[in-house]
Amino acid sequence: MRDTELALTVLRDPLFHSGMSTFFGDMLPSRTAQLALGRAVRNVMRAHLPAYRECLAEAVAGLGPVSQWPGAGPLLVYRCTADALLHPGQPTDLRRQLAQAVAAGLTARQPQMRQRARAEILRPKLLASVTEHVRGRRAERFRAGEPRDVLDAVIGACPDELADQTVANLYVLLFQSIVGNIGYAVAWSALLACLHHPPGPPWPWPADWLVREAGRHRPFVWMVGRPVPHPLEFGGRPFAAGTILSVSPYLLHHDPRHWDRPDVFRPERWNEPGGQGPYLPFSTGPFTCAGASVAHSLTTEAVAALAQDARLTVSGGDVRPLVSGSVLPRPFALRRTLKTPVRPALAKGGE
Ligand code: HEM
Repeated sequence: MRDTELALTVLRDPLFHSGMSTFFGDMLPSRTAQLALGRAVRNVMRAHLPAYRECLAEAVAGLGPVSQWPGAGPLLVYRCTADALLHPGQPTDLRRQLAQAVAAGLTARQPQMRQRARAEILRPKLLASVTEHVRGRRAERFRAGEPRDVLDAVIGACPDELADQTVANLYVLLFQSIVGNIGYAVAWSALLACLHHPPGPPWPWPADWLVREAGRHRPFVWMVGRPVPHPLEFGGRPFAAGTILSVSPYLLHHDPRHWDRPDVFRPERWNEPGGQGPYLPFSTGPFTCAGASVAHSLTTEAVAALAQDARLTVSGGDVRPLVSGSVLPRPFALRRTLKTPVRPALAKGGE
């Protein structure tokens, strides 16, 4: 759906939201359970923000002077969210498997067949381990108190009768949303900022504008769909029940009737009163992303940490997206050169 007004109607009108959100597939029994799970996971991630912030400087330094992207994005985010995904003290083999899944690219649908096969081959083993872990935690009868990690939040929000394997699938879905979506959003922000700014001087934009503009110019989730609930006419055309109406945040973000020079990457537009049109990197309406605000903070903090006290340049970068399940940047190398600390000027007489 290209027309912005019709697309927003699809995303906001209760008519298209009488059922359940397709994000969770048919894994949960009710919309109430979907909402509860989304909130519980968001709360864990929000509580983790200070620790995430603290971890970033070291994790960014660990990337070294030249890092390979976009893969480095999810790796960076995973490194700083690992304790929220699985609290410390959990079996190291499961943590190792999660780290391997991130390194292999399992946090997003990879565009190249070989890459996808390399990632997907890990999924059955990862799911089996998470399922076993879920079984163990459920047997512990963890219920009371604050969730210690995302897995507790998922288990706590799932009805008891849900199969362990379904709970594990839900956990992996959220793991991918956190590590992949945020990691690739960081990658887009760094790439676009470097390509649109001469190397050398620091970026003139706050990380917040940069992340917003990257989410507009290259929204990671480029397509969302809603089923037609019953036969109806919409936008002058008849649709059968069950037809999926697809809305593209990508197209809406490039509509010249709502955005000034939409094809230009211009972070300063976020400082212009009235300079923004319909903006939906996290969708909008009743099924909007449950983690939108915390995801924005996690992305912004990572981009700010990358640029802190450093000059960033890219090689091999290209703004054209690779469209797969989502919108991924093409491979590029990011060089991070630390700014040399300014030596205090010697006082007169060489003191
Ligand atoms: C940059 C990062 C992220 C992006 C771009 C993103 C994007 C989206 C989008 C577009 C949807 C809506 C899909 C639809 O309309 O059908 C969605 C749904 C959802 N997202 Fe995110 N997401 C991100 C990070 C997160 C994080 C960190 C969490 C968890 C803390 C999360 C949890 C969810 C949940 C639970 C839903 C389903 C909402 C519902 O149906 O009730 N997302 N996300």
